[in-house]
Amino acid sequence: MTETETFAADFDRIALLAGDDWDHNSHYHEFLARHLPANCRVALDVGCGTGAFSRRLAKTSERVLALDLSPNMVGVARERSAQFPNIEFKVADVLKLELPSERFDCVASIATLHHLPAASVLQKLKRALKPGGVLLILDLFHAEGLLDYAAGALSVPFSFGLSLAKRGRLRPPREVRRAWEEHGRHDTYLTLAQVRELCAELLPGAVVKRHLLWRYSVVWKK
Ligand SMILES: C[S@@+](CC[C@H](N)C(=O)[O-])C[C@H]1O[C@@H](n2cnc3c(N)ncnc32)[C@H](O)[C@@H]1O
Repeated sequence: MTETETFAADFDRIALLAGDDWDHNSHYHEFLARHLPANCRVALDVGCGTGAFSRRLAKTSERVLALDLSPNMVGVARERSAQFPNIEFKVADVLKLELPSERFDCVASIATLHHLPAASVLQKLKRALKPGGVLLILDLFHAEGLLDYAAGALSVPFSFGLSLAKRGRLRPPREVRRAWEEHGRHDTYLTLAQVRELCAELLPGAVVKRHLLWRYSVVWKK
């Protein structure tokens, strides 16, 4: 199996177990949405999963194109998005799909960049943005150094508390955790220093922010 086929198989499995409730990514949806351009006509969501952020984008955009490698993810996303005729879901590998130049007012990608060759994908997404458009990235990072470990330790009680408050349980069900753990064996993440270096090179002026739930965001205006 190629790496891409492995990811597609992992996410086909996860899609059938995924609930539509709070998680460590959706916790940051409103933070990301605050950075959407005022007149967001056309938005792109890369690695849309079950479509939660695509639906958020669809509330304030005329049209959303939402891509994912996993047919099951796209199937679940379509079912959950029946109220949003302005979202077009597509099963596609962003590495192979030709994206139009300067088409989108917003390009978003959540918890997906770490599955991809970051530099070439960021360049591709950057080209697809209109001048004045906004790139929104949220992803996980590899902890290194005392600050990352200390923040990671603080994140544990924060995560349990939020999980209890938002979904009435400390952790997701066992079969969901097992699917994520098995998928996690194929995952590698950039460190925050690598993210900052990449942004300095490719996205001058980008704001890179560390978040408590083991994530960082990048907000960049073209
Ligand atoms: C961790 S999930 C995140 C899903 C969603 N963005 C969210 O926040 O819930 C990562 C998603 O990226 C998709 N993905 C991975 N590689 C991809 C690729 N090359 N092209 C398109 N989607 C990809 C996976 O199928 C998966 O649904």
